[in-house]
Amino acid sequence: MKVYNDTELQEEIKDRRKYLLFAEDEFETDQYLKRPQPPLVKEAKAGTKKITLPKNFEDLGLTRDLAAMMYRRRSHRVYTEETMDLLTLSFLCYAQQGVKGRRGKKYATLRTVPSGGARHAMELYLLVLNVEDLEAGMYHYLPMTHELELLKAYDPEMDGATALSSVCEQDFCLTGNVCFYYAAVPYRCEWRYAIDAMRLILLDAGHVSENLYLACTAMGLGTCAIGALDTPTSDALFDLDSESETIFYAMPVGHINEAENEDGEQAFYAFLKDEE
Ligand SMILES: Cc1cc2nc3c(=O)[nH]c(=O)nc-3n(C[C@H](O)[C@H](O)[C@H](O)COP(=O)(O)O)c2cc1C
Repeated sequence: MKVYNDTELQEEIKDRRKYLLFAEDEFETDQYLKRPQPPLVKEAKAGTKKITLPKNFEDLGLTRDLAAMMYRRRSHRVYTEETMDLLTLSFLCYAQQGVKGRRGKKYATLRTVPSGGARHAMELYLLVLNVEDLEAGMYHYLPMTHELELLKAYDPEMDGATALSSVCEQDFCLTGNVCFYYAAVPYRCEWRYAIDAMRLILLDAGHVSENLYLACTAMGLGTCAIGALDTPTSDALFDLDSESETIFYAMPVGHINEAENEDGEQAFYAFLKDEE
């Protein structure tokens, strides 16, 4: 771990601002050079168990007032122990990364979220903790077939410390039904946008996260965006190589009790009392 002195830190901060800039420089992208396009999604590993997710979303009765959903959306960090059914989990996956169609045979996927150049350079991983008819485990969402792929069963004794460290010890993340992890597959976007890809990948994640926030609000669930993430431990949890693919964002989801929650959420911001 690098320890910065103040001058180095100021330089690093300035340097990292470059990720906000649109890259105006002239360059020839791999797409322009007609190099092969990378796959639109990460394929399932050979031999993994696949779980078909239900798609009868009309049974969820989701006809809520959108303006009210936007107003009520907030971060929740206190979850009840209520279990989640598979249809609900299925909808949360669909809301974040669901595939609705294709552009061309292999050029792009069209999903429930927008993406710069429709590159969708993201893979969705799940740490399932408490979902009906689904063993606790580390899963990968397969958007083309709307399935889950079981990567590894979750054993709190064996994997609990890694899971907790992956979210920088924010233990509430492991008290809900599921914790979603967003991984970037940079080349899927770099193939087309080269040095401008990083900005687009990070922008894309915002849409995905907001879709989840709104879906949760409409279903009486709570979520909280998690940027304080230990990326090497998160990658280790899902066996990612950190180079071709790395986790950069997480979203725990759990049931909430709005009335009882207030105290718990207030406790999270207790430090503000000193300001008064
Ligand atoms: C990019 C991003 C990263 C965040 N990281 C964390 C985090 O690591 N831990 C946490 O408790 N909240 C995190 N949050 C939640 C914010 O604290 C929260 O959105 C903010 O306080 C506003 O509250 P609201 O979402 O209820 O409107 C994050 C939010 C975003 C958008």
